[in-house]
Amino acid sequence: MSKISVIGIAGESVFLSVERFGKTGETTVATSYHSELGGKGFNQAIAAARFGVDVSFLGAAYIEDIKHFTDIAERCGVTARFVGKCKRSPYAVITTDKNGDNQVCVYGGAQLEEKDVEAFESEIRSSDILLLNNETPYSVNKKALEIAKANGVRVILNPAPARKCDKEFLDDIFIFTPNEHETEGLEEYRNVIVTLGDKGCFIRENGEHISAEKLSSVVDTTGAGDTFNGILAACIANGESIRSACEKANVGAAIKVGRQYILESIPSREEIEKFMEGRNG
Ligand code: RIB
Repeated sequence: MSKISVIGIAGESVFLSVERFGKTGETTVATSYHSELGGKGFNQAIAAARFGVDVSFLGAAYIEDIKHFTDIAERCGVTARFVGKCKRSPYAVITTDKNGDNQVCVYGGAQLEEKDVEAFESEIRSSDILLLNNETPYSVNKKALEIAKANGVRVILNPAPARKCDKEFLDDIFIFTPNEHETEGLEEYRNVIVTLGDKGCFIRENGEHISAEKLSSVVDTTGAGDTFNGILAACIANGESIRSACEKANVGAAIKVGRQYILESIPSREEIEKFMEGRNG
């Protein structure tokens, strides 16, 4: 079985639904509340696991949260290693409006250090793909990339949230997966797949645009990018072409967008394939 490693944050995500987002200084009233374990890396790990690849996740957490987080990851098919820290676990507040759009604010809390990534080396070494994002400190991603490079493991970087990185670091990335607002600093790279929300994605290498699936109703766009990244990484680990990986990742993201929240809404490989079969007649 193919294997991917994912490094990222995991922590409580609180979802509040509002009619519309407030203006600066305005108080809005939420019509519903929901809490679940989230974080970009954690969601991506789940998306890849539901696609059927072996997934090893590394994150940091407040010591007393480790058992709870590990149990949830295990239930979702992810082998997770949480490094205990004396700081509260990451925390996110996600507001979604009636159009399914979202605003996300993340508190990093307990964070990984370089030494934690060093202790994860054997997992990276035995992976087909290492999936990184920018919710972890830059020093952590640099260490992870160094280990991957030394062991010939390809790295996919989801540069979310956007941040400035050295050319030396960027040069070693196999594929970048920014959204339209995260492409700054990547102008000179061809190995970029830009996610375009309801417009699908764009493969810069060959200038190909892959349209998104049309949905009858958009319920919640939160986590669509994470779903895309996890499935993309899984498909590439399985040896699929970039095009085929993007198509499946697009379908996975579209299915997710038709459902509320993230954890239970990320589709399985079977659901994605069934959807594609239906579409192709
Ligand atoms: O991409 C969505 C994720 O970003 C949420 O799960 C939230 O935790 C934030 O990290």
